[in-house]
Amino acid sequence: MAKLLEVKDLKKYFPVRSAPLGFGRKWVKAVDRVSFTIAPGETLGLVGESGCGKTTVGRSILRLIEPTGGKVFFKGTDITSLAGKKVRLFRPKMQIVFQDPYSSLNPRMVVLDLVGEGLHGVSLQKKKDLVVGVLERVGLSPEILYHYPHEFSGGQRQRIAIARAILLQPELLICDEAVSALDVSIQAQIINLLIKLRQEMKMAYLFISHDLAVVKHISHRVAVMYLGQIMEVAPTKRLFANPLHPYTKFLLAAVPVPDPECKRERLVLSGEAQMGADFARTRVDEGCCFAPRCPYAEDRCRREEPPLVTAGKGHQVKCFLVKSK
Ligand SMILES: Nc1ncnc2c1ncn2[C@@H]1O[C@H](COP(=O)(O)OP(=O)(O)OP(=O)(O)O)[C@@H](O)[C@H]1O
Ligand SMILES: [Mg+2]
Repeated sequence: MAKLLEVKDLKKYFPVRSAPLGFGRKWVKAVDRVSFTIAPGETLGLVGESGCGKTTVGRSILRLIEPTGGKVFFKGTDITSLAGKKVRLFRPKMQIVFQDPYSSLNPRMVVLDLVGEGLHGVSLQKKKDLVVGVLERVGLSPEILYHYPHEFSGGQRQRIAIARAILLQPELLICDEAVSALDVSIQAQIINLLIKLRQEMKMAYLFISHDLAVVKHISHRVAVMYLGQIMEVAPTKRLFANPLHPYTKFLLAAVPVPDPECKRERLVLSGEAQMGADFARTRVDEGCCFAPRCPYAEDRCRREEPPLVTAGKGHQVKCFLVKSK
């Protein structure tokens, strides 16, 4: 399969504490050697608990923040080594939609300017035509051109944010918790809109969410992150039917199961669950980063870091307990 996006060994470390003269400085490994690919038109779901590094992955890919290490290839070009000006050439091709449509839209701009901001050197009439066209695409009336963001509901604002992101026909759309702030019924409408747009415009999505039901619905493949690392990646059906990593099993078991006949293995996590991700992150310097919470951890898991092994077609897992195929 051709690759639209290839992320290789991506790292982003943030300093957590500045020690005198810089000695003993600690780092939060927000993203730690993350690798994955996205094919044209494919949707990769990225899931994991709050603070596991999902947003940092998305922002590093777009170079909204500078990665500490690793490479990001977009259609074969290494965009991590491009200078500022050249990165801008790629911006129209890769766009992002954020969680909060209230803060992501400038309150002082009207819809025409918000949505059409990325257009340069076009006449006002052309700008209006293009903006009206894209508003129709996302289910909004052309009558709203001169209205301000505060005049709209959350769902309508997210449609405006999507219109703005797709105006220049990107090939990759990063959706970072794009529906998480919306009511459930509105969520479904926006998800359906994203699925429609994906078909019409042949866009690929990196769909970041902590909501597994939504991710299951929209993604072709899913990657599971824990403390900055990808622990498991598999085609969606396979991951939900046959999760192999203890952490993935825990995540899936935490989702309400509507069918009472369907009994899923319930895992009880030990360790730092309630102490927060950062505590566990700074504590584990060797071995598997999930070992402190893993009910199956053995001595080896605390000493050595497991490699990501192939456990079936398109299915990779980072756990010593899973046999490679
Ligand atoms: N600018 C920053 N400076 C320092 N630490 C940061 C910064 N941005 C993120 N972090 C830390 O990096 C880790 C990953 O954060 P990130 O926002 O990527 O997680 P997330 O998976 O998107 O979480 P959520 O589901 O809550 O959105 C967290 O521990 C966070 O505190
Ligand atoms: Mg986030």
